[in-house]
Amino acid sequence: MPWLQLHLTTDKTRAPLLELLLENLGALSVTLGDAADEALLEPAPGELPLWQRTRVTGLFDGATDPDWLRGEISRALHTDSALELQLEELPERQWERTWLDDFQPMRFGESLWICPDGQRPEASEGIFIDLDPGLAFGSGTHPTTALCLRWLARHPLAGITAMDFGCGSGILAVAALRLGAARVVAVDHDPQALEATRANANKNGVLGGLQVLHSTATPESKQDLVIANILAGTLIELEPLLASRTRNGGRIILSGLLLPQVAEVSKVYKSHFDIRPPEVEGDWALIEGVKR
Ligand SMILES: C[S@@+](CC[C@H](N)C(=O)[O-])C[C@H]1O[C@@H](n2cnc3c(N)ncnc32)[C@H](O)[C@@H]1O
Repeated sequence: MPWLQLHLTTDKTRAPLLELLLENLGALSVTLGDAADEALLEPAPGELPLWQRTRVTGLFDGATDPDWLRGEISRALHTDSALELQLEELPERQWERTWLDDFQPMRFGESLWICPDGQRPEASEGIFIDLDPGLAFGSGTHPTTALCLRWLARHPLAGITAMDFGCGSGILAVAALRLGAARVVAVDHDPQALEATRANANKNGVLGGLQVLHSTATPESKQDLVIANILAGTLIELEPLLASRTRNGGRIILSGLLLPQVAEVSKVYKSHFDIRPPEVEGDWALIEGVKR
């Protein structure tokens, strides 16, 4: 069944009213998004800030009459001119798989490849990881994951123990194991991430070296390497836990930071780690520390 999608651009004070209106007109979902490239970073828990220019998108059953919809909206808002309104028909697709159309094998460092399930690059040499992130974060396309993968690819990992805190798809845990780590503990608070991590480890033949746990059950053992790609605020909160899971002389890798956040996160982690200069990709940075 095709769908009818409607977009309205408005200011942030009118967006909640439009959301309600679309719901009352039978929208199956309403999505609020950024209409003017305005970053809203790390809202506090429970806070739902809106953009100055907000794009309100309603998804309707394909049988909905577009003229009726347009008329109802104009009537409810007492206007037919001020609205930036667009209507489009959407064909039925398997939406959660659509992004895979653009997911090609990607190389990190000399020889580490992340491949969408079953695909291979032309290169015949290398370490190939088959990955399906499912509904979890971590395909390698985001700079924060890419920074971590490059770091893993250029350091000797043979025989080490590691913890991947906030494992998402398990991409970093699986990469560490394929690069020679002896054991990796992967933790996350999202059950879908734990499921994806197990599945990806299984299809890459490294399930035996992996422990996948909910973050409330993070084991107390100390690791040679702790890697965490999470947002800056969470990394700051997690410092005591992550420091306590890193052995003296072991390393911590923190990613998910925007450049202006490096100083603040480094300051907190300096209480237990010697921090190296950041590695940068675009607006994002990775920092590495050695535990004292
Ligand atoms: C940016 S993703 C990183 C995924 C993957 N490690 C990568 O590098 O692509 C962050 C992950 O951390 C998890 N996460 C965020 N806050 C967390 C917390 N306080 N405790 C445990 N996991 C958390 C999220 O569920 C998500 O899977």
